[in-house]
Amino acid sequence: SRVYPFFGAHQAGITTPAQDRLHFAAFDVGERTTREELRELLVEWSAAAAQLTQGLEIGETGAVGGSDLAPPEDTGEALGLPASGLTITFGFGPSLFETADGVDRFGIADRRPESLVRLPRFQGDALKPEYTDGDLCIQACADDPQVAVHAIRNLSRIAFGRASLRWSQLGFGRTSSTSTSQATPRNLFGFKDGTANVKSEEAAAVDEHVWVGAGEDAAWMTGGSYLVARRIRMLIENWDRTQLQEQELVIGRDKAQGAPLSGGTEFTEPDFDASGAAGQPLIDPTAHVRLAHPAQNSGVRLLRRGYNYVDGNDELGRLDAGLFFLSYQRSPEQFITVQRTLATDGLNEYIRHVGSAIFAVPPGATAGGFVGETLF
Ligand code: HEM
Repeated sequence: SRVYPFFGAHQAGITTPAQDRLHFAAFDVGERTTREELRELLVEWSAAAAQLTQGLEIGETGAVGGSDLAPPEDTGEALGLPASGLTITFGFGPSLFETADGVDRFGIADRRPESLVRLPRFQGDALKPEYTDGDLCIQACADDPQVAVHAIRNLSRIAFGRASLRWSQLGFGRTSSTSTSQATPRNLFGFKDGTANVKSEEAAAVDEHVWVGAGEDAAWMTGGSYLVARRIRMLIENWDRTQLQEQELVIGRDKAQGAPLSGGTEFTEPDFDASGAAGQPLIDPTAHVRLAHPAQNSGVRLLRRGYNYVDGNDELGRLDAGLFFLSYQRSPEQFITVQRTLATDGLNEYIRHVGSAIFAVPPGATAGGFVGETLF
């Protein structure tokens, strides 16, 4: 079982090879919570995260080492389980800095990065408040769902009285690889997802597209990143009635190998100028890979780290399923650019964006410090 360090220049869970499972949680900080209490919460969260990610029980007495007359410090369901590659990544939403009515609750409004604002409304957005926004977020990824859920549960419990869960999302089956050592997984449309992702081995691309560099943003964000979360419902039943040829046209890649329709194998660069015998472009003008490609987006790339989800079914008996899209980028502008280009994406007929959030993800902490120390 893998164990990743919690402390480091960058937070773990971004370029870390994507684990199999996700529990993501967004929190609201209580109306009466003070700046000092918020800071203390971040200190306690980091201390607990440092233990959890090493496969340890939290607190001094863990799950069963304390008094028989007190509730245990650790809830116990991960006892006996290994660390399972757990990473815990913290983020700050725009509303932490300033509420919708312009209140600076924690005296940090002047430190809000200029670009940290709610995402603009995109064409086709059908956002529901129950999957949207949040003052704080925690992304817990692990190869065992019990370990990821245990982490979110215990961190929520620590927050009691200071911050409460606003919404959360379970995910399975990573829909991206973030390392060249990983095979490309498939999303619920059955296509390989993550082929052209920014991979951790591409050091120059990671620096250029993922990490905030010194002097280019609020100083406390140096070494951090921005996280966009979008709950994207997939209209699975419509997709499943669609001809294979149409499915491939919509994506712009073949379903078996994930090769671009212009030819080659999975990792061949798409040739957007290639045309067929009848002169039609081999990669359709509305194909997802054409529109999402850096060539259509001023060179912009994203580090995608999403997961599949299935949350039961709706009242019409359709699966409530989709892609919990997560992307990391050095500036929210990157996501905004790509998502705007996707306005004419053929995929839009089969998907609906129903949740949205953005968070500033501060740099990592050094041992003895805490995530968010550069801000508080
Ligand atoms: C590529 C599926 C939403 C950005 C791909 C690929 C697939 C795919 C199959 C090709 C393989 C790969 O390179 O990973 C989907 C599905 C979505 C979705 C099913 C919704 C349910 C999004 C969104 C964005 C996005 C919302 C960003 C705004 C990208 C990018 C690429 C890509 C940047 C790589 C393009 C390249 O450089 O070739 N997606 N995607 N996707 N997608 Fe998506």
